Amino acid sequence: MLILGIESSCDDSAAAVLETQRAGEALVRSSVVANQDDVHRAFGGIVPELASRNHVVTILPVIQRALSTAGCELKDIEGIAVTRGPGLVGSLLVGLMCAKGLAHSLDVPLAGVNHLEGHLLAPLLEHRVPMPFLALVVSGGHTSLFVVEGFGRYREVGRTRDDAAGEAFDKVAKMMALGYPGGKVIDELARRGNPKRVRLPRARVKGAPLDFSFSGLKTAVALFLRSEAAVAVNSEDLAASFQETVVEMLIRPTLAAARELDIANIVLTGGVAANSRLRVRLAEEAAKEGRQVIAPSLKYCTDNAAMIAMAGSWRLLGGQRDSLDIDAEANLPL
Ligand code: KG4
Ligand code: ZN
Repeated sequence: MLILGIESSCDDSAAAVLETQRAGEALVRSSVVANQDDVHRAFGGIVPELASRNHVVTILPVIQRALSTAGCELKDIEGIAVTRGPGLVGSLLVGLMCAKGLAHSLDVPLAGVNHLEGHLLAPLLEHRVPMPFLALVVSGGHTSLFVVEGFGRYREVGRTRDDAAGEAFDKVAKMMALGYPGGKVIDELARRGNPKRVRLPRARVKGAPLDFSFSGLKTAVALFLRSEAAVAVNSEDLAASFQETVVEMLIRPTLAAARELDIANIVLTGGVAANSRLRVRLAEEAAKEGRQVIAPSLKYCTDNAAMIAMAGSWRLLGGQRDSLDIDAEANLPL
């Protein structure tokens, strides 16, 4: 089955063609992402109205490119998977309307996909991961721990009480005037910094060892930047100290969950899973307990449509189809 995936939940317009015969096993024929960083950079964050307007301009060319790279045409497509939430509603609508129009005109089944399910199943694009597995989903909008028991069977066992980890990266980068998007810049700066230079609080959520909290850390960095001590600290050292703190704050609940649930395979996924230090440190700490960390390659960590096609594929292969009445939902629960 050739599946066209479409993703437009936030600021990236993406399309992909996936070839699959069995749930969880697929060949990515193409995966195209047009990011809008240049549009939003001047504002230091995503401007929803600009994001949806840009999706309108880019979505069709991106789909065209995904098809031509895959060496196929629209008439070859046998199913369409599209993100229907969570995300920015204006952005979601562009991809969803486009997918509905295509599904209707081609007379092929449509699957509306939860963006988080895309992140959860992204590792399957490259690896065979036995289920159940534990997944740490860390992105700009989410920081959660899920147990993936099977296709369509996802149980959230931990979550952030306030900010997402990616949000903390982006906000701290903004406070440090490092530009946008912040995660990647901090990752690069931190490579040349001393992670022990600035002591920052590592908050734990009382009575909830599997939950996360990042707002206190963000405030601590803001206060530090206003203090006299900040003058003597270069941005490399502050970036490294902040990043190390986030990484340790992500690792502790993840390993606690793996221990509590007795799960050997840990999947690291979402935009922040691109963080080089997190990838190394989580793998090191997990290995000490005989656990394995599986992370998608960088292009499948950040938003992309191949993961959306993967998340829709098991339902399309099973003969399920959504009605063309499905709507975009900004807060769609998994
Ligand atoms: O999954 P994603 O592309 O979009 C959402 O669904 O949110 O994640 C974007 C987030 C942003 O907050 C970005 O700063 C962060 O992922 N990010 C990183 C890195 N690359 C992207 N954070 C830390 N280190 C990175 N290398
Ligand atoms: Zn995402």
